[in-house]
Amino acid sequence: MVTGTGTVVKRGTARLAAQLAGNGDADGVAALAEAIITTPEDDSLATENSLLLNSTTLGNQEDSKWFYVLAWPLMMLYACWAALKVWPYRLWRWAMCRPSDGADEEEWKEYQKRWWLGPRNALWLFDSHWLGEMVRNGVTTSEALDGINAVPVLSRKGELNTWGGWWVRFWLNQPDGQAVRNRLRITFREILNELCRLWESRQAGQKIHVLSLASGSAQATIEAMAVFLAAYSDARGNIELHLVDRSGSSLLRATHLAKVRGVDSHVFIHTQDVKSFLAAQPDGSWDMVEMVGFLDYRKWKSAVEICGAIRRVLKAGGMFISAHIGPSIWSFVVRWVINWPLLLRRPISAYRRILLWAGFAESEVKILDEPHKIHPVGVCRKR
Ligand SMILES: C[S@@+](CC[C@H](N)C(=O)[O-])C[C@H]1O[C@@H](n2cnc3c(N)ncnc32)[C@H](O)[C@@H]1O
Repeated sequence: MVTGTGTVVKRGTARLAAQLAGNGDADGVAALAEAIITTPEDDSLATENSLLLNSTTLGNQEDSKWFYVLAWPLMMLYACWAALKVWPYRLWRWAMCRPSDGADEEEWKEYQKRWWLGPRNALWLFDSHWLGEMVRNGVTTSEALDGINAVPVLSRKGELNTWGGWWVRFWLNQPDGQAVRNRLRITFREILNELCRLWESRQAGQKIHVLSLASGSAQATIEAMAVFLAAYSDARGNIELHLVDRSGSSLLRATHLAKVRGVDSHVFIHTQDVKSFLAAQPDGSWDMVEMVGFLDYRKWKSAVEICGAIRRVLKAGGMFISAHIGPSIWSFVVRWVINWPLLLRRPISAYRRILLWAGFAESEVKILDEPHKIHPVGVCRKR
């Protein structure tokens, strides 16, 4: 959205900022989700289509690839076509839409983002369907992940039974897409188990503090919190979930989900950068920290520093759950069909090294792999 002053702001981010300012909250101060107003446009699809709420879609790790192995050459051809299509668009944007010299930083950011992402509707066999469009235009944000995560439930409901729906299902069900959802299943289970463990082993009067960094719409943590509180109603009032993200739109979607699941009085949101948030936290202050889908974008030094800061803020015995995307023969789909740039894929050995260089001991690190070995989940317990 471009404002009257020519400033580009993300709609959700502006809406959240206005509410926080109205509540007298300074930037970076926690706001209780209960006090934030959301609208149906903040629905992340998870409210009605969460794969975590259905025993069939939750229970099965997705592990089918032979159909895609056969289709691989044709998929690669289509991806090459998709890659080529981006270049005329980039040239056109450079020639016609480049911000003027006096343009502000937001306008430049928006221009650069579109330059990277390419045209909005580029691929007849992918983003002519609303779900494909949502994923392609939401790349690097949690909106794209929300779309990919909803595929199994939308399919079961028959909502992808159209020509466009069939194609978007085809692309989002390839092994890289399956692996993203497997990661969600694993993190949800790990968080839920840890919440139960923390509650059962707590000392009298102790409150539990859970942190989700670069939380996006926070499906795994919010759903785990909702299931946990349904089982342990005496934990109400004794547990806090803090979500940190710099995207207001993502935090509004998380807030909306928390409201629908009835856990919004336990959820606090911080519109903040991960690094500056961590820098302000005292040592040993969090029982559990979750950070998924973020290391995938960090250079080595930054990844090590952030994981090191997380180790510092964890209590002794606390758990850090993270994930890191690995190399895959399907990466061309994500890169050129979904058009998701800037992902840094590292093998599992490099992911483990990041955690070790951050200060976790070998014995503190456990890495859980999903069937496609694309999205391993690291579970570190600080001793
Ligand atoms: C790929 S999404 C992952 C979302 C979520 N953790 C999940 O797994 O569904 C990455 C998220 O990181 C957020 N993000 C990116 N850079 C950030 C930063 N420096 N500080 C805080 N959040 C950031 C984005 O706004 C986005 O919501």
